[in-house]
Amino acid sequence: MREFVDMEKEIEKAIVLIRRGYSKDRIIKKIHKNFDAEEIYEIAKCRIKIKDKFSKKELYFDTYGLRYSTPEIIGRYRAERIKDYRIADISCGVGMQAIFFACTNREVLCVDIDKRRIEYAKRNAEAYGVKNMKFISGDCCSDEIYNIAKNYDIIFSDPARKEEEKERNLRNLLPSPLKIMEKYGKRDYIFDLPPQISQDKIPEGWEKEYISLNGSIRRLTAYVGTLYRVDRRAVALPSGEILESNEEDTFTLKSEFSDYVYIVDEAPYYAHLLGELEKKYSGLWYVATGKRRTLASSHNLIKSPFLRAFKVLDYSKDLEDIIKFLQKENFGKVTLRMSLDPREYWKIRGRIERELNGEDKASLFYINGFYVAAKDVT
Ligand SMILES: C[S@@+](CC[C@H](N)C(=O)[O-])C[C@H]1O[C@@H](n2cnc3c(N)ncnc32)[C@H](O)[C@@H]1O
Repeated sequence: MREFVDMEKEIEKAIVLIRRGYSKDRIIKKIHKNFDAEEIYEIAKCRIKIKDKFSKKELYFDTYGLRYSTPEIIGRYRAERIKDYRIADISCGVGMQAIFFACTNREVLCVDIDKRRIEYAKRNAEAYGVKNMKFISGDCCSDEIYNIAKNYDIIFSDPARKEEEKERNLRNLLPSPLKIMEKYGKRDYIFDLPPQISQDKIPEGWEKEYISLNGSIRRLTAYVGTLYRVDRRAVALPSGEILESNEEDTFTLKSEFSDYVYIVDEAPYYAHLLGELEKKYSGLWYVATGKRRTLASSHNLIKSPFLRAFKVLDYSKDLEDIIKFLQKENFGKVTLRMSLDPREYWKIRGRIERELNGEDKASLFYINGFYVAAKDVT
């Protein structure tokens, strides 16, 4: 216990020094020799990065563990759906999803091939005051781990993924869900998959639940076996609004837009549920769909957690006309809501804003050949 407290002190010291702008080399020299200074520095860096991803502060992460850890709001959402089971999380990382499962389930077994992450998972469970967890390091596909994990009701796995990969598929995940199923056989599974994976690469009969946070796609969870409820779901957090369907996705795509335009939450696009969204909010149609951005429109204002609404103020094929309009209407700042690489973005934005002197902030879309000036009304 004493060593643990001292380590906390060293991490706090490193955080203060990083914030003061000390170089890594200088900080490493100041860490007590009882500790691995590189490790302390990495944990401190991660804690600074956490921001509001978790409600507890004294958590342990390595850089990879933090990047792929499940944000608390998503972990708790999934744990509301899955309750009162005994779950084996067989690739638990630093344990964040496992901890939230432990809050609503009878017991959670944590397994990771990386010993250090298992150690961090234990400490993170302590930080959350969760006691119904067991920890073991090893390869989840080894006989040793299989003989323990097979006794649990649900096998959960959020596999590691390669940072850069042209096309995601199940085989390349570590551990691969297909390999896990070969080892553990027919039973209930939950897999956390990369949302970019194409749906035709996911076996039939797996429920695909896409979760977004503040409009951006964050998770794809597959429910297999008796946990299956529906083919596809889209969940918008923080509201918790849901769309779901077993039917093929058909929706209206037109080039004309009307008085309101919307940035559509990414979950319905990835889930192939744009048709369900249109059905739920009559009067809505799409003007552009795609991975980078899906835009919709309507004559009257529609309020939905899946839609970020903008009132159209003016539109023209000529950008100069729009700049004149923005000048006349006292606008000073313009957010460009179109696909541009960052350098191009700031070049165009700078050129427009140099000609404006006002106070108000507008958004500028480019929709089917028209520049559209609009105001955020969400
Ligand atoms: C994406 S992380 C898990 C994140 C975790 N769900 C969370 O919320 O913090 C994936 C983990 O799988 C582990 N892993 C990869 N192959 C494994 C294997 N064969 N057996 C056990 N763990 C493995 C990696 O070490 C990594 O920590």
